[in-house]
Amino acid sequence: MENLEDKIKELLDKMTLEEKIGQLQQTGASLAGAFQVDFEELLNMLYDGRMTEAEFGAMMGGAEQDYKEDDLRSGKIGSYGGSMSAEKAMELQRIAVEESRLGIPNMICCDVVHGYKTITPTPLAESCAWDTKLWEKTARVAAKEASAAGINMTFSPMVDVSKDARWGRIAESAGEDVLINSAYGVAKVQGYQTDNPKAHDAIAACVKHIAAYGAVESGRDYNRVDMSTQKLYEEYLPPYEACIKAGALAIMPSFNDINGIPNTANETLLKDILRADWKFKGVTISDSNAVAELINHGYAKDEKDAAMKAIQAGVDVDMTSNCFIENLKELIDEGTLQQDTLDKAVTNVLRVKFELGLFDDPYQTSVAREAEEILSEENRSIALEAAQKSIVLLKNENILPLKKNKKVGVIGELAKSRNDMLGCWAISADEDQCVSVVDALEMKQIPYEYFETADEAAKSDCETILTAIGETKKESGEASSKVNISLSEKDILSMKVLKDAGKEVTVLLFNGRPMAIQWCKENMPAIVECWQLGTEAGTAIVDVLYGDINPSGKLTTTFPYSAGQCPVYYDHMATGRPGGKSRFTSKYIDAPIKPVYPFGYGISYTIYEYKDISCQVTDDEVQVAVTVVNAGECAGEEIVQCYFQDPVAKRIRPVKKLVAFERIALKAGEQKVVKFNVKKSLLGYYDQKMNYIVDDGEIIMMVGGNSEDVLERSIEIVTKG
Ligand code: BGC
Repeated sequence: MENLEDKIKELLDKMTLEEKIGQLQQTGASLAGAFQVDFEELLNMLYDGRMTEAEFGAMMGGAEQDYKEDDLRSGKIGSYGGSMSAEKAMELQRIAVEESRLGIPNMICCDVVHGYKTITPTPLAESCAWDTKLWEKTARVAAKEASAAGINMTFSPMVDVSKDARWGRIAESAGEDVLINSAYGVAKVQGYQTDNPKAHDAIAACVKHIAAYGAVESGRDYNRVDMSTQKLYEEYLPPYEACIKAGALAIMPSFNDINGIPNTANETLLKDILRADWKFKGVTISDSNAVAELINHGYAKDEKDAAMKAIQAGVDVDMTSNCFIENLKELIDEGTLQQDTLDKAVTNVLRVKFELGLFDDPYQTSVAREAEEILSEENRSIALEAAQKSIVLLKNENILPLKKNKKVGVIGELAKSRNDMLGCWAISADEDQCVSVVDALEMKQIPYEYFETADEAAKSDCETILTAIGETKKESGEASSKVNISLSEKDILSMKVLKDAGKEVTVLLFNGRPMAIQWCKENMPAIVECWQLGTEAGTAIVDVLYGDINPSGKLTTTFPYSAGQCPVYYDHMATGRPGGKSRFTSKYIDAPIKPVYPFGYGISYTIYEYKDISCQVTDDEVQVAVTVVNAGECAGEEIVQCYFQDPVAKRIRPVKKLVAFERIALKAGEQKVVKFNVKKSLLGYYDQKMNYIVDDGEIIMMVGGNSEDVLERSIEIVTKG
């Protein structure tokens, strides 16, 4: 069989300069010309309520049909970004393959971030399941549905370590921990692409957004990042690297700069690290309009300069800014841009198209397959499992589980809202397919009464009240940063009314980010973190409320006391004056330094006890064993977490760092010995000169059910002979 690189070269040799540049152009619905106003203004209208989601969707649908057919014919669009259907995708591919000179298939890309039509929990929510198999399974659901609708690549997984609750995009991440983001990303890549990306039900993963987008200053979206190289390598790069090592076919540079260089033009990142160190062979795709935004950054003079700087730094595809399509020819003609640089970018695009099997069969779907796959029973049941496992029980003073035969009162718009269950980025979903809490109570024939106000609920004969509070869908995700992450006054007021009336209140918290819920913790007897759980949200929540499912999720993000603590996270560095009794220690004079709920926290309807921690050090591993006992009265699943601390090091180290975890099932009364084999190399860090080192000497290993309650064992590491 002909070698892949030879095939690419053969095709490249046949291409005109215009056709090559066309392969680097990604056109989205925003450029389809169907709008009287520009795309950003449309989004503004959607967010400030001048347009409904239905109106927006209808316009987008129209735009998708209006992709520039002539540009496809003349080879000026290498890839397309936007929502799809099998019919539209096949027509788009037919034009590219049958009516363009060389018949190069298009590559259809879309943000399938947590499901296509069957929506699974937002990434932040799903990360709380700490379940790699589940993460892979839900990515398979997304890939099966998206590929059936003609999509070839998803802009996912997003593995930006996110330690700041103010940043709206924390909802898209797997939370604050580097290990969790890595494990989550790898599972997603595997689920989307499988071992055979050519398979018709596999899609390419575009990992995003390299790098350190989650560390934007003051949690403000699109803001800048300044950090030490050590921190970048230890805390932020590993998840992207893990995804590349797992075979991800594409990666997207982030909007932000790092230490003054915008990532869209960051050669160190996109060439030295990505290509040379990590041996990445796939395609780099700029973020939307990011090439042109190099001008706003003050890094490029004009669009031509921006195009030059981006392609030179290693950006292969320009998503929607048009800087490449409008300037690369001139840059080549005048000799500023080397032909070889252009050819390398085109080669990367073509290689991914070959690896996706698009040259073997550009269509890869059919209307019949689409109908069969979308929202299938199997897909919905996986979405339900994911939703159940992502719920985190934060507090329960003998209120839950509720009794099915006793009428429950319900208040809060979020209990009825299907749309808000979807969370950010569910751009292809149909809200009517979503189950709200009220829908689920109805379906399960559980007696309930919905009240418009807390006063009505307080006066009612319902002893038990569910109050749905938190954020709507639009309050998290891209461009949704906040300085106030507290509950609304209205929500607190209604909870006070219920409390004063002596009701047994269970708080159902819906949110895309951790919120400051100290008041709830102090005043409400039960709190269920319901996140935005997707299509089967309501079903899963009611399953947990009534004890059909024992809640098992654990937080992958710290819950701050207030926005003023942000960023607050468990793996912070040791200071010279750790918080203590003295005023002159690292703390606040108007708030505690402790968060409301720590990383790893989550309770259930049973009790787990930890005992008998032991450690053994071998040549290259630390083996940690612990006994976990289900000391309660019902079966459940516990997430066992293993941390470590290096107490004396050549650069200061985190007070604790997650190094392994496992979800285990335990029947009532059952106990299990859980063993972690931790590679010694995982205990290291970068020294001042950027050498990765593992210290000889004491390491403290810790195991527990959350980051604060742990058993400890001290060990000695000897690495050198
Ligand atoms: C976001 C990306 C997304 C892209 C395409 C951008 O605004 O930052 O995450 O993939 O749009 O929709």
